[in-house]
Amino acid sequence: MKRIIACLLLALAPLGAMAASADVELDRARNNLANTASLQRGAKYFVNYCLGCHSLQYVRYNRLAEDLLLTEQQLAENLMFTADKPTEMMTIAMRPEDAERWFGVTPPDLSLTARARGADWIYTYLRSFYVDKSRPIGVNNTVLPNASMPHVLAPLQGYQKATFEEGVDADGNPTRHFSGFTEPEGGAMSPEEYDEVVRDIVNFMVYVAEPVQLRRQEIGMGVLAFLMVLFVFAYFLKREYWRDVH
Ligand code: HEC
Repeated sequence: MKRIIACLLLALAPLGAMAASADVELDRARNNLANTASLQRGAKYFVNYCLGCHSLQYVRYNRLAEDLLLTEQQLAENLMFTADKPTEMMTIAMRPEDAERWFGVTPPDLSLTARARGADWIYTYLRSFYVDKSRPIGVNNTVLPNASMPHVLAPLQGYQKATFEEGVDADGNPTRHFSGFTEPEGGAMSPEEYDEVVRDIVNFMVYVAEPVQLRRQEIGMGVLAFLMVLFVFAYFLKREYWRDVH
């Protein structure tokens, strides 16, 4: 019996570790891949605010236009600032060595981040920058502590401060728990409007991480419809075969 319990505990141990790493609660992104207008807005925000530092190296511009229902002209006018041909990938001009010198780390390619981190993580991350004078870039992030990314969406959100509850644990060591943000100041948008912008960006990043998702669901419905029709024929065929036996 003891051995069984030990085995069970061992099997569950990684769950505990996973829960412990996310000590900030993540907000639900509630993004919707079927909302093409949101994906189009997300692409535009991404190109304007993120593509300066982060590439999407597995995404080709013309594929984007096709999936997001954009014409070549819309593509060229709204999204293609760093490329000449629609067949190019969404890469960036910044050299990794320079990036490392400026930020301490190279901004990672974001093609697969939505799959690695999850939509809720990115959604919460982009809404969790707060003023921190002790950091070289002046901001910190509750989701990715000591992140070296500047708050690039500050013109929209403004700057917020974070409040922490300080205390001591059972052993007398000081503890610090994040308890909330103050109202952001100096942004062009209300918190609700800003959440919508972030939701669009996250939606776009989720699409980018798995572009076939859009089509896979359509194909799935088609397959189900086909199976239903096939079932009717199969049923009558079975009846025909078994008629003489019964
Ligand atoms: C000025 C350059 C710069 C811009 C512009 C920028 N980022 Fe970043 N970003 C960084 C750097 C540097 C990091 C690495 C942070 C770290 O690991 O400390 C980062 C990290 C991230 C991460 C975390 C990746 C991971 O898995 O750890 C996400 C998500 C992200 N950025 C999203 C965005 C989005 C979305 C935008 C546009 C709204 C954006 N970034 C604009 C520099 C930038």
